[in-house]
Amino acid sequence: MRLVETRAELDAARAALPGTVAVVMTMGALHAGHEALLRAARAGADSVVATIFVNPLQFGPNEDFDRYPRTMEADLEMCRRTGVDLVFAPHRDEVYPGGEPHVRVNPGPLGELLEGASRPGFFHGVLTVVLKLFNLVRPDLAFFGEKDYQQLTLIRRMVLDVNLPIEVRGVPTVREADGLALSSRNRYLTEAERLAALRLSAALRAGAAAAVGGADADGALAAAHRIFADGTTDVVLDYLVLLDPDLGPSPGHGPARMLVAAKVGATRLIDNAPIDLG
Ligand code: PAF
Repeated sequence: MRLVETRAELDAARAALPGTVAVVMTMGALHAGHEALLRAARAGADSVVATIFVNPLQFGPNEDFDRYPRTMEADLEMCRRTGVDLVFAPHRDEVYPGGEPHVRVNPGPLGELLEGASRPGFFHGVLTVVLKLFNLVRPDLAFFGEKDYQQLTLIRRMVLDVNLPIEVRGVPTVREADGLALSSRNRYLTEAERLAALRLSAALRAGAAAAVGGADADGALAAAHRIFADGTTDVVLDYLVLLDPDLGPSPGHGPARMLVAAKVGATRLIDNAPIDLG
């Protein structure tokens, strides 16, 4: 496995990679969810590039850019273990050579909803860095986690809208045995907060179970909402919605996606799951 930090080094190393090239983009602090992405990439392409870059553009003024965990040695070890060929871990100036970018990708209306409503400018920052990294790595395939479902949906849309010759594949969310979706932010949770955080996945399960039991979209959503209706103040719900798989209005029947976001203590968590409305 090679580690490169500059665009020039990346260009040379990329040119030497054989066959189809997959990319897995990360901000480091790798966990079993990233491992699933890296393994899917390894199985799906001849060569695998992982990027490790904590993107300042997607952090708001009151968010945790400085506090964001940096675990480079352990990250490189996971990349090695999963058969990554090339790691690109650039400094800020390599990705943003002109400093703060004047030109950014506009995510369109979907970028203003859900996560975009709570975190203004977040998806401008995400799509801008993803497009930059696509241009720098020039992959054939890209693997992103379903855990960040709105991000995955917007990346698919960007690839379609600006005609990028890249196949985007989603990888299912990895969960702890009790249902908690893996996230780099889980490490901020106290034991009590971690228990409270289980409400997010429990709500998604309740919604899915209601749909299996014959509930319509409203019934499934109501079943999910009941999980938060016990008056607890440990979890502050931001949104809990049922939409179509492309995050348009709820379809009423067939495949749908339930998405939830809540603040647990000082930590904002998100989760989502597919729901079949029959
Ligand atoms: O999902 C993430 O870790 C980030 O949003 C990404 C895609 C690496 C862009 O910085």
